[in-house]
Amino acid sequence: MRHITKRYGSLVAVNNLSLDIGPGEVFGFIGPNGAGKSTTMKILACLLRPDSGVARVGGHNVLTEGDQIRRMLGYMPDFLGVYDDLTVDEYLQFFAAAFSIERRRRRKIIESVLELTDLTSKQHTMVSGLSRGMQQRLGVARVLIHEPRVLLLDEPASGLDPRARIEMRSLLTELARMGKVLMVSSHILTELAEMCSSIGIIERGELVFAGTLAEALKRTRTSELIRVRLENADLLPIVAQRLEALDPVGSAELRDGTLLVELTDPGVGHHFLIEQVIAAGGRIAAFEPREVKLEDAFLKLTRGAVQ
Ligand SMILES: Nc1ncnc2c1ncn2[C@@H]1O[C@H](COP(=O)(O)OP(=O)(O)O)[C@@H](O)[C@H]1O
Ligand SMILES: [Mg+2]
Repeated sequence: MRHITKRYGSLVAVNNLSLDIGPGEVFGFIGPNGAGKSTTMKILACLLRPDSGVARVGGHNVLTEGDQIRRMLGYMPDFLGVYDDLTVDEYLQFFAAAFSIERRRRRKIIESVLELTDLTSKQHTMVSGLSRGMQQRLGVARVLIHEPRVLLLDEPASGLDPRARIEMRSLLTELARMGKVLMVSSHILTELAEMCSSIGIIERGELVFAGTLAEALKRTRTSELIRVRLENADLLPIVAQRLEALDPVGSAELRDGTLLVELTDPGVGHHFLIEQVIAAGGRIAAFEPREVKLEDAFLKLTRGAVQ
């Protein structure tokens, strides 16, 4: 996308947005509600015309080559219209027909997308009887029917319970492994960031960040905390001193008989820490990296605190 702008009346929903998603990428498109994610994805799905700018999918222009794009692209909207009085199988048959897939090929394709989305056992269940997580997976199954190379999934994990979210994530990982290009949106950074090869953060129609998660963390100087416990706890003060002298270490504090190490550069990994502890004579009883505060990074980026 190059310089894409889309207005609804006087509201600028997407403002001069430029973005590249390469082959094999899993791109997490992250931003708060109303940021312009759905609008951007609808433009790429050829459902909305931008007011200005150029957008291409697989080299095809969204304004003039919609037919070619629709053949290679699967778009799952944020709100899934399901037909309540159909079974899962009938639902997929319907879309297979809509995509002009030959009758004799339909059975096989439907079987394979049911298996991929783990819905084989539900094929005779009414769509209305599926849990939300299953309905979302059915939505993914539906956009896979014409075997697209590019998938645009608008908030596929929203409203799912933790278990269903994990299942959705593993489905997306599987799709990525199959070599599909994925653009997946979410208003929650942590829901997606770790499985994405790159992320873009959008706010008020503008892209405030695009890059890898490691780059986002680095840019925001989001620190990472690691708790170290030693069998020979008497050595902790010496180890603390030694670690504190290292560049990527912000601080190393004794707390409750353990050592709390703050890494100011989360991109550097942990190996050197372990080596240093051992070199100082420490016998490591536990080494627990704590979850990086992704939300903090997100807030910093969207507040424009980082340029
Ligand atoms: N059809 C529409 N008509 C008018 N305003 C719209 C329409 N669709 C979206 N908007 C507005 O455009 C902005 C971006 O919306 P959207 O792309 O849906 O954001 P997101 O998907 O990130 O929540 C919001 O302010 C929203 O209210
Ligand atoms: Mg949306």
